[in-house]
Amino acid sequence: MDWGMQNRLNRLIGPDGHCFFLPIDHGYFQGPTRCLEKPGETIKPILPYCDALFVTRGILRSSVDPGLDKPVILRVSGGTSMVGQDLANEVLTTSIEEILRLNAAAVGISIFVGTDYERQTLLSLADLVNECEDYGIPVMAVTAVGKEVGQKDARYLAMACRIAAELGAKVVKTYWCDKDFDKVVEGCPVPVVMAGGPKCETELEVFEFVYDGMQKGAIGINLGRNVWQNPRPVAVARALRAIVHEKATPKEAHQIFEETKSG
Ligand code: 5RP
Repeated sequence: MDWGMQNRLNRLIGPDGHCFFLPIDHGYFQGPTRCLEKPGETIKPILPYCDALFVTRGILRSSVDPGLDKPVILRVSGGTSMVGQDLANEVLTTSIEEILRLNAAAVGISIFVGTDYERQTLLSLADLVNECEDYGIPVMAVTAVGKEVGQKDARYLAMACRIAAELGAKVVKTYWCDKDFDKVVEGCPVPVVMAGGPKCETELEVFEFVYDGMQKGAIGINLGRNVWQNPRPVAVARALRAIVHEKATPKEAHQIFEETKSG
């Protein structure tokens, strides 16, 4: 692998091979998501516990201090909204010049396998890889499921992840599932990162699924709402960091959460 590509990956993924990405890209199809109305304020206390920020160019320029000392994963697909006809109808929104100008450490693009827009989004991924490889920029594919979050099984997720890797993604972000998640990871020749989905009822639930996914081979998380929509986002972020980077169990993570919360 070329030096630039490897260097960018090393900035995103720690020496232990694990990572904690913080996504704040939800507004690109949801608008001002709860607790993300002022993204710059939301991320300030949480950033120290994360390894990278997943964000669109608009929020990066308008709301994030250029003195940021974390690598940026730039969200480069979009073009749809929650109230539009089909969330899957995404295209590339950001040029390679813009990716370079914003000093992105990586880029993220959604693919919608099994939808009417499967071909369009898969070809966008392939085109993006073609452009980014020239400049040593890793592409993270997001196996998006639109409104069907939590309804996709391991068979579907494994297929979507494998297709993303075959088309050249360097990292694949997908959803955890309670049955056979190990098969999703095993079928994917590049590292798998877990997304969060809508906010869980309890913190322990989040810690348990993240721990399980890590045990089954995921290299980390890209968790948004379960962090910054929690009334104690710093405590959640600290606890998650402990699972991802310090091998904490869900029980230990919960203790860190409780201690940080009351500290
Ligand atoms: C939106 C995304 C988000 O980055 C992803 O869903 C993670 O955020 P959350 O944990 O809130 O689901 O890709 O399309």
